[in-house]
Amino acid sequence: MNGQGKSEAGERIVKHVLDGHVAARTPIWMMRQAGRYLPEYRAVREQAGDFLTLCYTPDHAVEVTLQPIRRFGFDAAILFSDILVVPHALGVDLSFEAGEGPRLSRTTNLTELNALRDDLDPSRIERVLEAVGRIREELPRETTLLGFCGAPWTVATYMVAGRGTPDQGPARLASLTDPAFFQALIDRLVDTSARYLIGQLKAGADAVQIFDSWAGVLDPESFRRWSIEPIRRIVALVRAEVPDARIIAFPKGATLAGLTELVLATGVNAVGLDWTVERRDTRRAVGGRVALQGNLDPLVLIAGGAALDAAVDALVEDFRGAAHIFNLGHGIRPETPIAHVERMIARLRG
Ligand code: CP3
Repeated sequence: MNGQGKSEAGERIVKHVLDGHVAARTPIWMMRQAGRYLPEYRAVREQAGDFLTLCYTPDHAVEVTLQPIRRFGFDAAILFSDILVVPHALGVDLSFEAGEGPRLSRTTNLTELNALRDDLDPSRIERVLEAVGRIREELPRETTLLGFCGAPWTVATYMVAGRGTPDQGPARLASLTDPAFFQALIDRLVDTSARYLIGQLKAGADAVQIFDSWAGVLDPESFRRWSIEPIRRIVALVRAEVPDARIIAFPKGATLAGLTELVLATGVNAVGLDWTVERRDTRRAVGGRVALQGNLDPLVLIAGGAALDAAVDALVEDFRGAAHIFNLGHGIRPETPIAHVERMIARLRG
C-alpha cells in the first residue's frame, strides 16, 4: 500500500483507494444501492413495466443509477444492470417473476451450449454501454463509476439450474458428471465477460467488480478451478486491453485461505468481504496487497439503532489505517428503512 494519500478536491476517492492509497476519510457505497428499498426506484420500475426493460432502456438505467447518489451522496455509483444480462445476450431466455427471482432457459450440456452465441448480442450490450457513458457524463466529478459482471462460476450456476437454488447443487453436479461441458461453459463466460468489462471501462467506468456470489459453496479444489482460475483469466484479458484497469473481486463465502489464494493468483486491486470474515485476520493476510471492501451485515442495517452504531464503529476501528472502502457484506435488502441508511452514513462521516 502507498500509505497516507492526500485526497484533493474533485478527486475520485474510491478510485484512489483502489490504487492502494489510504484515504483521509473512508469512502462509502452499498451493493444493490439502487433498488426496491427506494420509493424513487419503485416508481421507475413501475413505469418500465419489467426489470429487463429497465436494464435495457438507457434513460431508465441512468436515472436509477443516479438516484442513490443524489439521495445519499455515495462516493461510488454502480451501473444499474444485472449479472444475468450476459447469458441473456448469449441467447438464453430470461425473465424475472415478481417475488420469485430469475427464470432462465437451462444450459446443461454441450449441445445446448453450442446453440448459444459465441459473442454477446451487440443489440443488447450496446444499450448497457450507452448507459455507462451517459452516467459518467451526469455524475459529479468526484464520484467513481463502477461497472460489473458476474463471475463465470456464479453465472454458470444460474444457467445450469435455470433459477437460483439453495446450494447450487445442479451446477456442482454438472461440473462433476460432465466436466468437459462445464469447462466449455466457463470458457465461454470468461471470454464474453472480459469483452463486456473492457466495453464498460472504455465507455467510462473507473473500475469494475466481479461478483462471485456463490463462491462459498465450492470445496477448495473446485474453488481454485471454477472461481479463482476464471477470474484470473478475466483479469489478464481485461488488462491486456486496458492495462490500468482497476478490478474488485467479491468471492462471497470464500475462506480466508481461499481469499488469500485468489488475491495472489489473480492480481485484483481489491477484494469485497462478506460479513462472516474475521476482519483483522483478513487485513493481516491480504491488506498489504489489495484494498479491502465491506463488510457490514445487511441485517444489522435493517435492525438499526444501537446495534447498527456499534457494528459501524467496530468495523471502522478494525480497518483504521487500511486501504478500505466501506460497503455491506452483501446487497441491501428491500425492507431496509431509509432512515437507517442515513444513520449509518452520518455515523461514518462523523
Ligand atoms: O448493486 C447495484 O445496485 C447494481 C445493480 C445490480 C442488480 N443485480 C440489480 C437487481 C447488481 C450488481 C446485481 C448483481 C446480481 N444479480 C447478483 C450478484 C450480487 C448478489 O446479489 O449476489 C446476482 C446473484 C444477481 C441475480 C439476480 N438478479 C437475482 C437472484 C435477482 C432476484 C432477487 C431480487 O433481489 O429480486 C435479481 C433481480 C435484481 N437485480 C433486482 C435488482 C434491483 C430486483 C429486481 C426488481 O426490481 O424487481
